[in-house]
Amino acid sequence: MDLDIRTSSTSFISPREKKNLLVASNLSHAFDYTLFENLDLEIKEGQSIAVLGISGSGKSTLLHILSTLLKPQHGKVLYNKHYLYEQDAKSLLKIRRDDMGIIFQSHYLFKGFTVKENLEISSIIADKKLDTALLKQLRIYENLNQNVADLSGGQQQRVSIARVMMKKPKLIFADEPTGNLDKETADEVMDVMLSYVLENKAGMFIVTHDERIAARCDIAYRLKDKRLVPVIL
Ligand SMILES: Nc1ncnc2c1ncn2[C@@H]1O[C@H](COP(=O)(O)OP(=O)(O)OP(=O)(O)O)[C@@H](O)[C@H]1O
Ligand SMILES: [Mg+2]
Repeated sequence: MDLDIRTSSTSFISPREKKNLLVASNLSHAFDYTLFENLDLEIKEGQSIAVLGISGSGKSTLLHILSTLLKPQHGKVLYNKHYLYEQDAKSLLKIRRDDMGIIFQSHYLFKGFTVKENLEISSIIADKKLDTALLKQLRIYENLNQNVADLSGGQQQRVSIARVMMKKPKLIFADEPTGNLDKETADEVMDVMLSYVLENKAGMFIVTHDERIAARCDIAYRLKDKRLVPVIL
């Protein structure tokens, strides 16, 4: 019998029956050295994918390529029948704004503004109301009127996660979203994100150094020797 990594899926529908949200094919990219070559990846509806790998292996670069932020030197990224990097700047921006939720490795919150103001910027842009239930789940509802610069690193991280999730994105890209969090809070944040993905038939691509977090995703890969190698955790 073939060992199929996809059988580790925690979701109910067989991944084979699910629709692809994003298909990346033949991606190669180099800066000072080649990060990856001929890399293929699919993200399906309701699916969460984790990528592990040593520092400098190219995980953030890959996340940026998949999420409209960086054109790969070779290869294509297909999203919703459109090749991302064949779109004009305006169409690409629209896809990024409407459908992609990008949680950066550094939080990019607006320092000097309160939590509420930071959240409103996203919800106004996305034309959504503040999601009180989400804020309570992420345990930042009590912090709404505090300046983000006064929050702990973990609280800031959760604000940036809330800000992205309030857009109700079709794809979540999260670069070490639990890096500043204790184990318990990291698990809570993962609960929120994984439920969102399943309930909304969204997809998630998460970069992490934490094998425990990666193990909670449907598929885990390690970016190693310029390839994505499936890992069973
Ligand atoms: N815009 C850029 N210009 C030049 N080099 C870059 C750029 N972005 C990334 N690099 C280089 O590419 C390599 C991979 O960077 P990347 O941020 O993708 O790694 P990573 O796997 O996310 O690492 P970490 O785990 O430390 O976050 C690094 O050597 C980095 O210096
Ligand atoms: Mg990185």
